[in-house]
Amino acid sequence: MSEQQELKIENLHVRVEDQEILKGIDLTVEPGKVHAIMGPNGGGKSTLAYTLMGHPGYEVTEGRILLDGTDITEMAPDERAKAGLFLAFQYPHSIPGVTMANFLRTAVNATRPEPVSPRDFRKTMREQMALLKMKDEFAGRYVNEGFSGGEKKRAEILQMAMLQPKYAVLDETDSGLDIDALRIVADGVNALLGPEMGVLVITHYQRLLNYIKPDYVHVLVGGRIVANGGPELALELERSGYEKFEPPSAA
Ligand SMILES: Nc1ncnc2c1ncn2[C@@H]1O[C@H](COP(=O)(O)OP(=O)(O)OP(=O)(O)O)[C@@H](O)[C@H]1O
Ligand SMILES: [Mg+2]
Repeated sequence: MSEQQELKIENLHVRVEDQEILKGIDLTVEPGKVHAIMGPNGGGKSTLAYTLMGHPGYEVTEGRILLDGTDITEMAPDERAKAGLFLAFQYPHSIPGVTMANFLRTAVNATRPEPVSPRDFRKTMREQMALLKMKDEFAGRYVNEGFSGGEKKRAEILQMAMLQPKYAVLDETDSGLDIDALRIVADGVNALLGPEMGVLVITHYQRLLNYIKPDYVHVLVGGRIVANGGPELALELERSGYEKFEPPSAA
């Protein structure tokens, strides 16, 4: 019972194709808290998200990731999902031939010991879709196939709502959303927030954070966290940009 309830990233170094991208990240996400990671293009935000989820192209060369005390650094992505981790992608893939309903049911069943009854599943799915203002027909459409940018993001949040992860990583969930869709997606996330779930929101812009209120803000530049603060840090970045955090150029 002594295990820590937290997603803990310790001194994480990650290499992609012979290049060190993350250079020692320390970050702890507690259940019930929202952490935002902000930073300029190419800073390593998506690299962190993919590494957390166990993408094979991202090699951890130093450090580790602990989920409620269990070292998941070497775990396969499906085992991480089972352990309660979820990633909403910056660029969701389409899966031709697989309907949303089938995809979601398979994903839900993969994370629980007993399969959910088809009836309960449909009921929950319809409720969650209504919450996200998704038309029923989406259940029968192939995953992300021909979805607009905003529809893809909603599909990601629907997946999160169905899986009820303990820790969710949302990578640029705001990109491609118009202002109404942004609010719907944020409402969807907020509806899931509670003492049970910890969230890591990755975003360039402060705008999303008007809707999903972070408890903590971290700035990721050049593979390192260069500043930590509260919501006021996001506002400051909106005004001043990332320039003062950029490493001095080699030139
Ligand atoms: N598969 C890859 N192959 C080569 N380089 C990569 C790969 N993935 C990431 N990188 C490099 O790692 C650096 C960080 O990329 P990453 O996608 O993590 O940045 P980001 O902070 O998410 O940027 P953005 O805000 O544009 O989404 C970039 O220089 C990128 O080119
Ligand atoms: Mg990115």
